Amino acid sequence: MKRIAPSILSADLSRLGDEVKEVEEAGADLIHVDVMDGHFVPNLSVGLPVVKALKGVTKLPLDVHLMIEDPDRYLEEFVKAGASILSVHFEASKHIHRTLERIRELGVMVGVALNPGTPLGMLEEVIGEVDLVVLMSVNPGFGGQAFIPSSLDKIRRLKNWLGELGLQNVLIEVDGGIKLENIKEVAQAGADILVSGSGIFGERDRNKVIRMMKERLGDL
Ligand code: DX5
Ligand code: ZN
Repeated sequence: MKRIAPSILSADLSRLGDEVKEVEEAGADLIHVDVMDGHFVPNLSVGLPVVKALKGVTKLPLDVHLMIEDPDRYLEEFVKAGASILSVHFEASKHIHRTLERIRELGVMVGVALNPGTPLGMLEEVIGEVDLVVLMSVNPGFGGQAFIPSSLDKIRRLKNWLGELGLQNVLIEVDGGIKLENIKEVAQAGADILVSGSGIFGERDRNKVIRMMKERLGDL
C-alpha cells in the first residue's frame, strides 16, 4: 500500500489544526513536517512547538523531516514532541552512523534523506541502519518547486539495490514536486511514501485531490 504524506509547509498555518484534520479525514496516511534552520537550507520553517501542537490534533503519525545542521542536538526533543518518524539529511550530520543509531535508540522510525545531488552510493555503509530513505526530488528548502525528472531513475535504482540487499522492508519516501499529475509515475518507480505539499494544500478541495491521488495509486 502506497502512503500519502501531505506536507504542512504549504498549509494555511493560521488554521493549521483544521488543515490537518481535513487531510486526515480525506485519507492521508502521515503528516509530513519540514523543519528548516536557515543554515542547512536557505529557509526557516517550523520546529518543536508545532510538532507538539500537531500531536494534539491528529492521530496520524508525524513524519518529521529535519533539514537542520547537526541534528543530534534535537533528536530527543522531537521524539518527546511526538515524532513517529525522524529523518535526517546525510549531508547535515558529521557522524551519520551515530545519528541514525541515536534515532533507533529513541524508538521511532529511522530515516535518512538525500539531496538530489547526493549519490545513492553514499548510503552503502548505513543502509542497514534505516527504516526509510527519503529521496529529495527537489532541492530542499522550499515548497512548490518542480519535480526533478532524473529522480525517477534514482528511485528505480534505489528500489533495485534494496532488492539486491534483501532489504525490501526499507521504505522509499519521495519528497518534492509530487502532484496529481505525476504521483502514479513516482509510485510506479518504487516510492512507498509520497510527500506532497503544494500538490495538496495548494488545491482548494483537499478532499478531492487526496481521493483522486488514491484512485491513481490504485493497488500499486
Ligand atoms: C522541501 C520540503 C518538502 C516540501 C514539498 O524542502 O522537504 O517536503 O514541502 O513541497 P512540494 O510538494 O510543494 O514540492
Ligand atoms: Zn520534506
